[in-house]
Amino acid sequence: MSDKDYSQYFQSTYDPDKKKIRPKSAEDVGYSQKEGKQRGKEEVMVVNFDPIPDELKGLGKDKTYCLVTFGCQMNEHDSETIAGILENMGYTSTTNEKEADIVLYNTCAVRENAEDKVFGHIGALKAVKQERPDMILGVCGCMSQDESVVNRILTKHQHVDLIFGTHNIHRLPILLRDAYYSKEMVVEVWAKEGDIIENMPKVREGGLKAWVNIMYGCDKFCTYCIVPYTRGKERSRMPEDVIAEVRDLARQGYKEITLLGQNVNAYGKDLEGREYLFGDLMDDMSKIDVPRIRFTTSHPRDFDDHLIEVLAKGGNLVEHIHLPSQSGNTEILKKMSRKYSREQYLELVAKIRKAIPNAVLTTDIIVGFPGETEEQFQDTLSLVEEVRYDSAYTFIYSPRHGTPAADMEDNISEEVKKERLQRLMSVVNRIAREKNEALRGEVVELLVEGESKNNPDVLSGRTRGNKLVHFVGPKDCIGKFVHVKITEPQTWALKGELTTRVEV
Ligand code: SAH
Ligand code: SF4
Ligand code: F3S
Repeated sequence: MSDKDYSQYFQSTYDPDKKKIRPKSAEDVGYSQKEGKQRGKEEVMVVNFDPIPDELKGLGKDKTYCLVTFGCQMNEHDSETIAGILENMGYTSTTNEKEADIVLYNTCAVRENAEDKVFGHIGALKAVKQERPDMILGVCGCMSQDESVVNRILTKHQHVDLIFGTHNIHRLPILLRDAYYSKEMVVEVWAKEGDIIENMPKVREGGLKAWVNIMYGCDKFCTYCIVPYTRGKERSRMPEDVIAEVRDLARQGYKEITLLGQNVNAYGKDLEGREYLFGDLMDDMSKIDVPRIRFTTSHPRDFDDHLIEVLAKGGNLVEHIHLPSQSGNTEILKKMSRKYSREQYLELVAKIRKAIPNAVLTTDIIVGFPGETEEQFQDTLSLVEEVRYDSAYTFIYSPRHGTPAADMEDNISEEVKKERLQRLMSVVNRIAREKNEALRGEVVELLVEGESKNNPDVLSGRTRGNKLVHFVGPKDCIGKFVHVKITEPQTWALKGELTTRVEV
């Protein structure tokens, strides 16, 4: 990896003298999702984000932006960067979509219903855009990397002004300028991931918990999943950059850091000339003076013994492991290309439980994958019974454009898929409740996040295992660690009584 000149990133691709042809498809703007699938050997550069030039900085003076985020933590974190760039340009934040000068949708493509939500928002903004033609409506994030979505916006939603993808967020200042000057929709989506850009501005909310990206992209290509196409190849940030960012957040008083990546435990595999993997990074994290370090998401295949050994030391490395299984049937796992069997997954769980007996295990599960039989689905139920997850995100399989599973025969009716989801959820919820019940009378450590959503007289916090606990206590507990005795376990949360405060 090496440094390179950054100035090219503020170059416009908009040529006012060239007659504009309205693009009708992703192809017209040179974007091909297929190319995003290729995994080349190109060197990944690390580039520093330069200060935004003054002429672009002025664009946001006296103007507001409304940023609406869909999808996973990765997207939430990207939105912090987008907000950072916009605020550097002088824009101020608003939550009012109808009145903002810029509305940006940072989108998720993982399932069809995620996309439907976004199209609902885009459609609803058409009337607003007619009334206020000067406003800018932009779509970014994972849906922008999906060719079929770009085509749909280009043909059916011409009131959108700007589309950009997940790989060129740093070009937002110049893309916005182009959107102001150009009469046509500005579309810039990169199939290839490009460089790792360090030191982009960020607006982090709350001052208590922060996300830190440790790697970008995914090379796993599970057959149902769009993410490897929307996020590009796996690229790890340099360990010293990650460590410096976490140290800086600790100095600023953040209490909990979550390391982010689609497969955090593939971290370091792409760092040439270095033998430094996720276990090594976690070891270095354990030496930083910050009370809690989490990570998400880990892939069962890359969960090595060294990582387990490091996590078992505890300390500021909390004992919550989100370990998506997706299915409990080896044949389905094979069709999903998860690259582990039911037995291997269970062996890993046993190893983790042996080393970290109080580990809180959570998971993601898909039902109704093409060809899934009733017996195969029952293997998923029995896996849940065997592992006894503390909680699980459960999904109905949704075919994604351009993925191999989308070409498999999807012979399971919607009705059966829904029924399987219900049965799965009832097992997951029963076990979650039983797990929480086991905490009755226990004293747990909480990081108090604020007033509870439904009752300002009640405070809420999270345990090391990420369980939500409500209790009554003085407001000055917010932002602090306390000990709470669990009195009333429920399925999704627990109620407790304040016992002591802990100074950290
Ligand atoms: N990188 C993470 C997952 C990111 S997507 C991992 O591998 O663990 C989050 C979850 O969405 C996945 O774990 C999977 O359960 C679900 N998912 C992904 N693609 C899906 C699809 N096409 N249909 C239904 N669920 C899907
Ligand atoms: Fe998708 Fe699989 Fe990558 Fe997770 S590991 S992001 S499910 S391809
Ligand atoms: Fe969605 Fe993209 Fe995350 S598809 S789940 S926002 S990586």
